[in-house]
Amino acid sequence: MISAEKIPNNVNLSGNKRLQRALEHWQPKYIQWWRDMGPQGFQDYHQVYVRTAVSVDPEGWAHFEYVKLPEYRWGIFLADPVHDRRIGFGDFFGQPVWQEVPGEFRNQLRRLIVTQGDTEPASVEQQRLLGQRCPSLYDLRNLFQVNVEEGRHLWAMVYLLHSYFGRDGRDEAEELLERQSGNRDKPRILQAFNEPIDNWLDFFMFTMFTDRDGKSQLMSLSESSLDPLSRTTRFMLTEEAHHMFVGETGVARILERTCQLMKEAGFSGDVRKLGGIDLPTIQKHLNQWFSLSLDLHGGEVSSNAASYFANGLKGRAKEETFGDHLITNSHYSIEFFENGKAATKDVLMRHAMNEILRDWYVGDCAAGIERWNRVLEQHGMSDRLTLPDRKFNRNIGMYSGFHFDPHGAPVSNNDWERRRLEWLPSVADSEYLLSIMATPIYEPGKFANYIAPPRRGINQQSIDFEYVRTEA
Ligand SMILES: [Fe+2]
Ligand SMILES: [Fe+2]
Repeated sequence: MISAEKIPNNVNLSGNKRLQRALEHWQPKYIQWWRDMGPQGFQDYHQVYVRTAVSVDPEGWAHFEYVKLPEYRWGIFLADPVHDRRIGFGDFFGQPVWQEVPGEFRNQLRRLIVTQGDTEPASVEQQRLLGQRCPSLYDLRNLFQVNVEEGRHLWAMVYLLHSYFGRDGRDEAEELLERQSGNRDKPRILQAFNEPIDNWLDFFMFTMFTDRDGKSQLMSLSESSLDPLSRTTRFMLTEEAHHMFVGETGVARILERTCQLMKEAGFSGDVRKLGGIDLPTIQKHLNQWFSLSLDLHGGEVSSNAASYFANGLKGRAKEETFGDHLITNSHYSIEFFENGKAATKDVLMRHAMNEILRDWYVGDCAAGIERWNRVLEQHGMSDRLTLPDRKFNRNIGMYSGFHFDPHGAPVSNNDWERRRLEWLPSVADSEYLLSIMATPIYEPGKFANYIAPPRRGINQQSIDFEYVRTEA
């Protein structure tokens, strides 16, 4: 049975002794990494009410219990196979999917899996200090739920590396524990995963926008011809949904509280004087994490992306909803920026795959902003949050050499330097946020002054349930 094994799984690990031994060898290194780089101060004396995946069916991944974090049962779970699944796009359209890695695509697939895998432990590292500044036990529990699941996503990728990439895969699995978020010599691969997340506004924006990039990427990988990659990412998506719930409702609750404080402060008054988070600060953090997450989708015109599509490695989000799955001769319009002017040009659609995924992502984010604005509307506020233009604050792709304001209008270097702190968080903003989060709230049912309580608790527990308890 699953529960009797050292590594919970639904991949019949005990039927492959070599693989089982290799993963059992990696496991203590993973636990050591979790102790060193995971939630600081919450390793040995706290029990957390978390959901643990014990199988992939709905009951099996909605199993809640108290666990000490290092004893969480990280496992390997693949979504059920689809009978007679066929390749859904690219040059091999219609052929049976692969159960093994074809030699000619080994390097490309390894790169995709390592890049995805690297983001998972990175976010745990970025968030490791947040427990000491939490706004409530409810939020603390949600943070740890996200953290343990990102740990499990690392397991998901390491399982693929160990299973299908031999010695190289095992080496990559080791390196996934060696790179460190923000480390000067050995940073994480992607820039957004090297940015510190030391306050809860950043955490909620990260789970809203950067975990949603995770959703983009997992959706496109779940279309992959490599069937085990498709199945593992399909199950990861079910967990990812909770991460975005945490981000979206976290910011919504801050907005709710900000509106209350604005009323108390008499609208023209300064919400910060009442210990709240003012709307301009919220907008700046939104700008920051949205633009960083746009970068994660890669360059607008990309021959790598074209080749991933052609080879059937990475599809479009919801590939089945498109009419043409080969797109050998289709074109796609992209806004170029040349000689100080925007100009729309057609490129081969296969080369625009990153941009097509980014379109899906921007749409999904925009829907979230609408929901946030409803909170402002319900409180009778005329202020609204907005998504910045996708050219704003980019460090990857064709806009990266230029500056744009949040509406997408070009600005000079000088103007950018002069005005960037109107649009992006400043050191003073961070200091302010840290000052109101300096004292963590560990009392059940109590919430920090800058955030409203949630509508309901987790797993039908009450809001004042003891979501994290200290061992006597
Ligand atoms: Fe993840
Ligand atoms: Fe996530």
